[in-house]
Amino acid sequence: MLQGKLVRLRPIERADLPNYVRWFADPEVLRYFGNYLPLSLAQEERWYERQLDSGSINFAVEYQGRHVGGAGFAHIDHRNQNAEVGLVIGEKDLWDRGLGQDTLATLVDYGFAYLNLHRIYLRVFAENKRAIHAYEKVGFREEDRFREAEWRHGRWHDLCFMSILRREWEHRQQEG
Ligand SMILES: CC(C)(COP(=O)(O)OP(=O)(O)OC[C@H]1O[C@@H](n2cnc3c(N)ncnc32)[C@H](O)[C@@H]1OP(=O)(O)O)[C@@H](O)C(=O)NCCC(=O)NCCS
Repeated sequence: MLQGKLVRLRPIERADLPNYVRWFADPEVLRYFGNYLPLSLAQEERWYERQLDSGSINFAVEYQGRHVGGAGFAHIDHRNQNAEVGLVIGEKDLWDRGLGQDTLATLVDYGFAYLNLHRIYLRVFAENKRAIHAYEKVGFREEDRFREAEWRHGRWHDLCFMSILRREWEHRQQEG
């Protein structure tokens, strides 16, 4: 279990999967997410089985005992000490209460302190202002932008790459 200030990150159980199906059936949740199609329970079950052996590290996000989202590391490159993070707070009624920031901060802390990473990065739609604001508050900065890289809602969208280095995270921790 990883304990944040607001959230707790724990392993995903099979019983959690219907929540992912419900969240990804919501166009507002899916709007700027990597998946662009809703996923059936059978697809979620297949993903769940695959990720057990994939080398990625995935967590269920809990807030006040309620399963509210998912988060994790993918593309973990141990030689270069790099990994990608991703997160979703699926319960929309809980957006803008700091859960996304706390989830990301908890992941980042774990990534540097336990996975011995050097650089943690993420991809985000340039128009996803809520997400970018949250990620900047955790200490991520934009490092690159892929122009018109994603086709969504009948037009092209820019994709931002953001990252944080271990020394930047440690400096923020020291500053309090
Ligand atoms: C993006 C997401 C993870 C953020 O989680 P969250 O719990 O809502 O985020 P937080 O409350 O920690 O932070 C949101 C911040 O953005 C601000 N915000 C909200 N809408 C905004 C907007 N349109 N422009 C700028 N800032 C905005 C909030 O006020 C808050 O800032 P504050 O703490 O300074 O008040 C969550 O909304 C989500 O999962 N969305 C759907 C899926 C998704 O887009 N995932 C990200 C893929 S990269």
